[in-house]
Amino acid sequence: MIDTRRLGQGEVRVGAIALGAMGFAGWYGGADDEAGVRAIQRALDEGITLIDTAEVYGRGKSEAMVGRAVRDRRERAVVATKASQGSPAYLREAIDRSLKHLGLDYVDLYYLHRVDAEVAIEDSVGAMAEMVRAGKVRAIGLSEAGPETIRRAHATHPIAALQTEYSLLQREPEFELFPLTRSLGITFVAYSPLHRGLLTGRIRTPADIPDGDWRGKVPRFQGANLAANVARLAPLEAMATKKGVSMSSVALAWILRKSENVVPLVGMGRPENVDRNLEAMRVRLDEAEVTALDAAFPVGCAAGLRYPEEAMASLGREAPPKRAPAPR
Ligand SMILES: NC(=O)c1ccc[n+]([C@@H]2O[C@H](COP(=O)([O-])OP(=O)(O)OC[C@H]3O[C@@H](n4cnc5c(N)ncnc54)[C@H](OP(=O)(O)O)[C@@H]3O)[C@@H](O)[C@H]2O)c1
Repeated sequence: MIDTRRLGQGEVRVGAIALGAMGFAGWYGGADDEAGVRAIQRALDEGITLIDTAEVYGRGKSEAMVGRAVRDRRERAVVATKASQGSPAYLREAIDRSLKHLGLDYVDLYYLHRVDAEVAIEDSVGAMAEMVRAGKVRAIGLSEAGPETIRRAHATHPIAALQTEYSLLQREPEFELFPLTRSLGITFVAYSPLHRGLLTGRIRTPADIPDGDWRGKVPRFQGANLAANVARLAPLEAMATKKGVSMSSVALAWILRKSENVVPLVGMGRPENVDRNLEAMRVRLDEAEVTALDAAFPVGCAAGLRYPEEAMASLGREAPPKRAPAPR
């Protein structure tokens, strides 16, 4: 069994590494459904308990696979899913659809996937709080929300988790979001902690990205940007070789060392990768090694945008203000 972390301010604890099921919908090339289900079961058996999906991952496909995988291990699993829009009417229907895809009568954590540009966060979180009262949802999370929106949301109903991108190649959250989430008792769930596979060392050139793979549309994975980002991995690779472990394990161990409030959420679509990533729990980085990695991957070092241009505006978004009710 692996170390655990407290989820928000509640009683629930989760394995210090979480499993993401986005890849099950084929975002990163062809996915193997049976291997995905076995990966979740293997993870749960080893103490990786927070299992993350979203309705948008294959329009319910990933949720259905998660539901299948956890059915006979429900007590051990902390199932999280996400809604893609923030209007109360949308959210009320979305949770029922997600529960149906999952084949479950509640989810442990329900996230707003992106802050809605048209809806006050108090209204989105208010609708999610109704779901908590109705027993459909145990705790509420936000993903890629801006700091002021996090404060407003948390004042409406306790927020258990903030899910935002964080890795050696994406360190911006260290400045504002880490201290903010820690001070509010919100767990920081670090998505794409292997930088969508780049920090595994298995992607070296555009030819390593299969046709139809979403990463082909991401500036960081294209042309000269990809070459620059791959060249930056040399110190990570050297440290992993010296320690006799994989690059991924060092990249995850660095996150685990950074803060006790952070849970790296790793995409794992096959049981072998679950086993490989469990190694990270055994990797010990001393102060000098953490400092060396910090220096090799300074904030802002990655070349190119982390999402396609058109998706950038929705990241770290602040919600519009809550309007006063119209006078009668
Ligand atoms: N909230 C959001 O907006 C948002 C955005 C993106 C992701 N997420 C969540 O975060 C999760 C993880 O992010 P991610 O999947 O983008 O990126 P990631 O965890 O950084 O990387 C996942 C990729 O690395 C591979 N991999 C994992 N461990 C490996 C190992 N030890 N050796 C070699 N390859 C390995 C996976 O392959 P296999 O799949 O073949 O095992 C997959 O292709 C997602 O599944 C999703 O749940 C959330």
